[in-house]
Formats: sequence, C-alpha cells, structure tokens
Amino acid sequence: DKGNHRHFMAKEIYEQPEVIPHTFGHYIDPTKETVVLPELPLDLGSVTHISITACGTALYAGAVAEYWFERFARVPVSIDIASEFRYRETPLQPGGITIVISQSGETADTLASLRYAKELGQKVVAVVNVPTSTIAREADVVLPTLAGVEIGVASTKAFTCQLATLACLAVATGRAKGVLTSDDEHRLVRAMMEVPRLMTEALKLSPEIELLSRTLAKAQDVLYLGRGTNYPLALEGALKLKEISYIHAEGYAAGELKHGPIALIDEKMPVVVIAPYDRVFEKTVSNMEEVAARGGRIILVTDQKGADLANVTAMQKLILPEMPATIAPLIYSIPVQLIAYHTAVLMGTDVDQPRNLAKSVTVE
Ligand code: F6R
Repeated sequence: DKGNHRHFMAKEIYEQPEVIPHTFGHYIDPTKETVVLPELPLDLGSVTHISITACGTALYAGAVAEYWFERFARVPVSIDIASEFRYRETPLQPGGITIVISQSGETADTLASLRYAKELGQKVVAVVNVPTSTIAREADVVLPTLAGVEIGVASTKAFTCQLATLACLAVATGRAKGVLTSDDEHRLVRAMMEVPRLMTEALKLSPEIELLSRTLAKAQDVLYLGRGTNYPLALEGALKLKEISYIHAEGYAAGELKHGPIALIDEKMPVVVIAPYDRVFEKTVSNMEEVAARGGRIILVTDQKGADLANVTAMQKLILPEMPATIAPLIYSIPVQLIAYHTAVLMGTDVDQPRNLAKSVTVE
C-alpha cells in the first residue's frame, strides 16, 4: 500500500521520521541519554580493528560509519566492497570484528564475506533489515535496523536506519574503549533524538527540489561532491540518481576534484555539493569556486551559515536547519533521495522497479 504516495519510494522517503525513532528506540535509553546495545558475545572495549563490508547503498552507510568509529572510538577501520573482500584473502587479525551491512540479508557477496570472516575467527556483527534472512541467521551478533519492509528497489529508509544503528554501535564502542566520556555520550544521544524532527524539516524542501530537478533531468552527467561524512553521501547521491533516472552520475570526494574530474566541468554539468557548515566547509567552498570558474552549475545543499558564506556564481541552494555534524548524514540523506526521486519522476522512469535491477542480489 503506497498510502497517498505515487510510488513506494516516495512513501519510504516520507516514512523516515517515523522509522528512525523506532531504530533509535531500540538502541537508546532516552531518559538516561545513553546507548544500550543488546547483550553482545564480544567485548567492544578490546576491539582492535573493524572491517566493514557490504554492497551498494549499504556499503555507503558503512563508509559514513567509518568516520564515526574512528572519531568516537579511535579504532582503525577498513572498508571494502563485499565482492572484493571475499576474494582478496584479506588477513583478519585476532581482536578484530567484521561488520556486514545489508537490507535484504541475502546479498550473495555480503553473505560470502560474512562466512569468510567467520572462518578466520572474527566475530561478525550484522546490521540487517530482514531479521529472518540468511545473514541474520549466520552472524554472531544481529543489530536489526527496524526500517520495516522496503519495497522500492532504491534503498532509502533502510539506509538511514543503517546509519542510525551504526551510530549507536560507534558510540557504544567509544564508551567501551574509554574514548567518549559520559558527557560526550549524552550530547551525542541528544543529537540523535533530534533526527526525526530535523528529517521532517528536510522533507519540506520537496517542492523546491521538484523545481530544481528540471535542471538535472536535462543533464547527461551529474557530479556529486562532499567531504568527510558527506563524501559517502555524494557516492550515495550519484548511485541513487543513476539507478532510478538513468542519468550518469559520479560521486567524488571534493578534494579529488582537481585530480581529474574537473576536466569534465562545463556549463552543461550540474554539480551537487553536499556541504553543511562544518570544519571542512571552507575547503569545499574553494572546490565550488573551481567549478564555478569553469562554468559548472552548482546545487549546494547546506545550512544558512553555509549559504551565507558561499558566494559563488551560478548556484542554487537548498537550505537545511543547523544541526550537530554527527547526525548531518541522516538528515542530508533526505534531499539526496528527493533529488533522485523527483528527477526520475520527471524522466518518466519506473521509479520503484528500475530497469535491470533487483531488490535482492542473490547471485554474484
Ligand atoms: C541501492 C540499492 C543497492 C543495494 C545493494 C545491497 O539503492 O538498493 O545498491 O543497496 O544491492 O543490498 P542489501 O542491502 O540488500 O545487501
């Protein structure tokens, strides 16, 4: 049932302010402002290394979490595409854990990676949406994402629920390692509790994004740029756009622009820049100036402070409320999803069932 939405994807985008508190509710004690994980058969305090592996959108959730694990818990992380991880014969040291992330819990390469990690004696934590799935059954620890059934082939609410779950795991690891103080933890948990309200605010950008998607629908190629946790979001934005609108798109770390992709920039090339005002904002502004100087058209997704500071020509701005940097990836996902959605609707594609794609990829 799509409710009053035209597509399951739209319904699932709009459901996020409801499903996110569900997920956080499972991992957070709101009165104590602490993260509470289920009983784990491992000691997070003695984890020496984290390997993350997944495919597609789930991989990008892991790529955001990499920053969190390193920042909150000071644990080194390596992250890998599951189809590479499983065949690379990655050495996995005792004391490490492997985190696999999957909406369906049936992705062949992710499952094979789980089995590989277990064979090498790693404890495997699965962040999965389907609790009865093979990945959920075979993992040592299951952290459910509780997004509810996701029908649209393009993953939306499962992605933000993966982020919510991974944020809680990162905070719990930081606490167990003695890196985060309880004040830090309270502050982070309070920020998490703001997510549903901020998502509702972000959804209000939909009419503006619908207008803006007319520019994108005419483009042959679109570039997405971001730094820090917004870099994986740029990758996710590009993936989402190509999946459902069939417009070629690339996500890049903003700092890589001048190492190649800048050669593509001309007045026909829209560049979506995901850049809340944060500690790397100024760096991203200089990348935007490089794009503008070559006639590229910029769509800047930012907050008021960022919008005031970025005085670049040929720019459209999408302005989100100000928020703590930690939770920004969850909120900035909304415009990223809406950009792809509205562009695809305008292109007249089959948004919920894009060509050549399957919801669950059970063959390698
Ligand atoms: C993107 C998308 C795919 C999946 C990928 C992994 O919108 O849906 O990239 O994210 O196939 O699927 P799961 O999470 O089921 O392992």
